[in-house]
Amino acid sequence: MKITVLGAGTMGSGIAQLAAMNGHNVVAFDTSPDALQNGRVRIDDSLRRFAKAGKLSADDIENVTARLTLTDDLAKATCDASVVVESVIEKLDVKRAIFAEAVELAPVDCIFGSNTSQLSITAIGAGLGHANAPRLVGIHFFNPPVMMRLVELTRGYLTSEATLDHAREFAASLDREVVVLNKDVPGFITTRISGLVRMECLRILEEGVASAEDIDRACRLGLNYPMGPLELGDFNGLDTYLSAMDSLADSLGERFRPTPTLRNMVMAGLTGRKNGKGFYNYDEKGRRSSE
Ligand SMILES: NC(=O)c1ccc[n+]([C@@H]2O[C@H](COP(=O)([O-])OP(=O)(O)OC[C@H]3O[C@@H](n4cnc5c(N)ncnc54)[C@H](O)[C@@H]3O)[C@@H](O)[C@H]2O)c1
Repeated sequence: MKITVLGAGTMGSGIAQLAAMNGHNVVAFDTSPDALQNGRVRIDDSLRRFAKAGKLSADDIENVTARLTLTDDLAKATCDASVVVESVIEKLDVKRAIFAEAVELAPVDCIFGSNTSQLSITAIGAGLGHANAPRLVGIHFFNPPVMMRLVELTRGYLTSEATLDHAREFAASLDREVVVLNKDVPGFITTRISGLVRMECLRILEEGVASAEDIDRACRLGLNYPMGPLELGDFNGLDTYLSAMDSLADSLGERFRPTPTLRNMVMAGLTGRKNGKGFYNYDEKGRRSSE
């Protein structure tokens, strides 16, 4: 299968890597030269870590790398695609616009997936036009896609059964487990649940009840979370976090509305691990540092 990934950021580069590691030919597209370059660096670093852990040989890495191209040429990226997975920024108009372009270039039998964390698949599908909206399905990966086993599949109002089947086969080809949402609801299953937990952590921090460190420690050691919600926010990007929460609040109610501190942090440029500061500080390699 040839897989196209639209957007080579945190998630897009990871999805591209996952698909290439599972034998697919992959082309990742991004409009930003920096994103393309950083995406390549992230993938190379991750492959090196797999090699260090004894999970990939030098030959494997060469083969994965040979199967994976990053480009700013949308026509090259989409021609011959079997699945086009969109993972651009979490903005409805940007997602609709990129799908409107891609549908003109991609083969008529390919399906389209959106990796949105919480936007309506039906609303995104409007970018494809009425005739092509049945070819779109929500294909929600988790960060980092090469490690996280779940893929959430969401039917839009017009998603066809054939598209859903194709998406299941695609997820199986990546060795992922799926859950299927029969209705298109904002936040799906996982973003709704994690959103509420996140909100309580933000409120506890805002009220000065405990430090970020202790809130995360409580969730890890007391609730058996692999990672605290605040450190996970840093890992995923606080800007992504903020817009997801705002959008959930708009559609599901004020219980999801982000706290002023989170909004201030993002406005001040503290977006988490990707730029070195969030709830915690990070060095240039993305490791936690004391300052
Ligand atoms: N970060 C996470 O943990 C996470 C998890 C699951 C899903 N998601 C979803 O994945 C999507 C991407 O999130 P991310 O964290 O990778 O964001 P990101 O900011 O790291 O990457 C987004 C990329 O989209 C690119 N882009 C913007 N406009 C574009 C366009 N018109 N054409 C092509 N590329 C374009 C940007 O240059 C950037 O590289 C979002 O919908 C987000 O909600 C994120």
